[in-house]
Amino acid sequence: MAKKSTKNASYTVPGLTTTEGHALADTLQQRLNALNDLQLTLKHAHWNVVGPNFISVHEMLDPQIETVRGFVDEVAERMATMGVSPNGLPGAIVASRKWDDYDVMRATGVEHLAALDLVYSGVIKDHRKAIEKAGKVDPITEDMLIGQVKGLELFQWFMRSHIESVSGQLENSNASTEKGAANSVATDKSGKLTKSTKSTKSSKSAKAEKSDKKADKKK
Ligand SMILES: [Fe+2]
Repeated sequence: MAKKSTKNASYTVPGLTTTEGHALADTLQQRLNALNDLQLTLKHAHWNVVGPNFISVHEMLDPQIETVRGFVDEVAERMATMGVSPNGLPGAIVASRKWDDYDVMRATGVEHLAALDLVYSGVIKDHRKAIEKAGKVDPITEDMLIGQVKGLELFQWFMRSHIESVSGQLENSNASTEKGAANSVATDKSGKLTKSTKSTKSSKSAKAEKSDKKADKKK
């Protein structure tokens, strides 16, 4: 009879205890979920952008998606290298994520970019937390995550450049939800800002904020 498949192998990378290696790989599973979610969300925006900036935003997103897919592969293969089976299935993302789906559908380029800015913030903040954990036991994983954050922050700057004033203010700075961020840059037919950041607190960033506050209380 075939032996039962297990999530964890009997080994990890040299120089780490198996417990250390597997625990860090478990942290990477969360980063795998977040990056998989991010590449799907970026594709969703690529398909749902409308308006005069359609082509520039539509085409700007694809190279970001390709890079993020590369990060997904890198994280999954690092987990396998560390002796833990990566779970790349959709159910794993839904079961363990702390955020809701991106809640902007058909919208203009700047509306999606203002909302995606918040999505990037959530992923980057959690990646930085994982860097802290990795730095305690494994500089190789730490180095991988640092390289990824560098890329993610560059892409976030691309988004922010579209919603930044000449004085350096971000139009979505008062928004705590993706819908609120989109509304903060929405314009009427004459091109005038309609400004409304009100939205239900259900987005990815709002959830991330909630969990941040909980974590801060625990410290
Ligand atoms: Fe496409």
